[in-house]
Amino acid sequence: MITSTLLYGLLALSSTGAAKPRPTYTTYSVVPGIFQQDDPATDAATFNFTAANFGLIARDYPSDAPHDKTKKTQWQRLAQHIKTLNKHAPKAERYALLFLGRHGEGYHNAAESYLGTPAWNCYWSELDGNGTHTWADAKLTTQGVAQALLVKSFWAHLLKTEKITPPQSFYTSPLWRCLDTARLTFTGLALPPHAPFTPIIKENFREGISAHTCDRRRPRSAIHAAFPTFRFERNFAETDPYWRALFAEQPQTQDVRSKVALDDVFATDRSTVLSVTSHSGEIASLLRVLGHREFRLATGASLPVLVKVTAMWGEGPPARTVPAKAQRTCAVPPTIRDSSCNDCLCCL
Ligand SMILES: *[C@@H]1O[C@H](CO)[C@@H](O)[C@H](O)[C@H]1NC(C)=O
Ligand SMILES: *[C@@H]1O[C@H](CO)[C@@H](O)[C@H](O)[C@H]1NC(C)=O
Repeated sequence: MITSTLLYGLLALSSTGAAKPRPTYTTYSVVPGIFQQDDPATDAATFNFTAANFGLIARDYPSDAPHDKTKKTQWQRLAQHIKTLNKHAPKAERYALLFLGRHGEGYHNAAESYLGTPAWNCYWSELDGNGTHTWADAKLTTQGVAQALLVKSFWAHLLKTEKITPPQSFYTSPLWRCLDTARLTFTGLALPPHAPFTPIIKENFREGISAHTCDRRRPRSAIHAAFPTFRFERNFAETDPYWRALFAEQPQTQDVRSKVALDDVFATDRSTVLSVTSHSGEIASLLRVLGHREFRLATGASLPVLVKVTAMWGEGPPARTVPAKAQRTCAVPPTIRDSSCNDCLCCL
């Protein structure tokens, strides 16, 4: 039952405002050979995006003019390449550069490291906190703030030295750790006056909706009070419509709403460079929808993807969702790092 409610809600969130299928559907693919991260040979666990110029591959593009290599940076030439791709693309196609950024470390990340994943998943994650720390809609730790500021100085370097084209649109998950990461990363950068940092809060860029309290968002009014310059997408509800105690959204359903989010962005936004501040699990889902290989991001890390967006005629394959699953929970607090707690049966 939750599934049909969820799906209806998701469809209602799309820009058409109606649950009717559109005459066209959208497909996504990754343009290969631009960034190291989509090459299977690149190890996500050791990859350092700030040391590697965001993973941008040093190469020639067909759009390079004879002296561009000495006169222009790799990022300037990439911008020219994307512009040329768009100029020659058939009407139903477009190319866009997405920067998918994961939030900095939150109190829920710190708690999971401290307690161990089994004990965290089985018990502690379902509480609001432990008396010392709160992890319901977790805020950033000191380390998380430092990570976001590091990414800010990286962007400042890219803008000044590498002449990168900055995002023209900014999107963020409604969860606090993302709102704050986006604010810390992009506020005060030398962005062009015609494309300032005015992010849009988008429900469907939130993390997978598990029974963990870190996946339950605050009311719209509380978000607005703390982030007054951020805008809300249309129909953004006051109270969290989706989080439900002890139920977990399944990955397949998450991918359906990730596609709704992307479809909605590309149906309403003509920008070529877009930034999305989101979560580990949600970025993994967006990558599945985009057809990018799995690439796990550490807290505070960011990943660029050059995407080809194609409008197809017809209704497209059906969006298959599955019901949210009841999550097993422990009646008794497991001890810290209790590995026998893995499937939560230990405490039943
Ligand atoms: C990544 O490289 C930068 C230097 O470009 C360094 O300052 C930073 O500590 C490195 N990050 C990690 C996680 O190793
Ligand atoms: C709560 O968890 C944090 C780690 O997230 C830990 O440092 C702190 O000691 C814990 N407090 C209690 C009362 O267990």
